[in-house]
Amino acid sequence: MPRPKRFAIISDIHANIEALDAVLADAKAQKVDDFLCLGDVVGYNAAPAECIQRIRELGCKVVMGNHDHYCSDPSVNLDDFQPNAASVIEWTRRNLSEDDIRWLQSLPYTVTLFGFTAVHSTLDSPEHFRYAFDATDAADSFTAQRSHVCFHGHTHVPCIFLRDSVSRTIQKWAPADGLLDKGTYFINVGSVGQPRDGIPKACYVIYDITKLNAPAIQFRRVDYDIEAAVRRIELAGLPDRLITRLYTGQ
Ligand SMILES: [Fe+2]
Repeated sequence: MPRPKRFAIISDIHANIEALDAVLADAKAQKVDDFLCLGDVVGYNAAPAECIQRIRELGCKVVMGNHDHYCSDPSVNLDDFQPNAASVIEWTRRNLSEDDIRWLQSLPYTVTLFGFTAVHSTLDSPEHFRYAFDATDAADSFTAQRSHVCFHGHTHVPCIFLRDSVSRTIQKWAPADGLLDKGTYFINVGSVGQPRDGIPKACYVIYDITKLNAPAIQFRRVDYDIEAAVRRIELAGLPDRLITRLYTGQ
């Protein structure tokens, strides 16, 4: 089988099937060869089984997100969660099949393919699901990064961390398209199903490795049927805060 050249890298779908289907349609129109999912397929929104089915149909690599863990591991004690968060996890657990739960449990914390790496949170301790919001957080992950490029999600805010190969200083950039031809990159691809950067559109990244020594990145924003996703949340009786987040992207 030939090496894929253009990957759609998607993360934090969070059971939003309307957003996921819009992203998959956009990625196919952009002629991607393969997909990679950075976790949190479930949690927050109201179509967890549908999203798992769609991702499994893609047959792509998937890493485990914190919500995938919470919703599939019965030993996770929900007393430690905010009541709203606990209620969504309980609802999700009730709405997944045994087979879906086993699939979530089977997901690895990291994957490496074609010279790049993927993790939901940070590479230094992927099982602890730490947040990389700033350069200090990213520095910890860079200590464990051996690849030129690593993709992550978890914060739902797309951005690029770049570590200079000589000075080892780390810069944080806003999402920007272009060649990854400088130091070492730790790139947040944003969220498909619950963006939190103030833009309600679904977010994902196209990663082009046609030239292995000069890979390119493109951030994409995609409109989707937010009203339909909201109707599902209302029907399921999930917290109103989840609806506000979809409309505001916060
Ligand atoms: Fe998430």
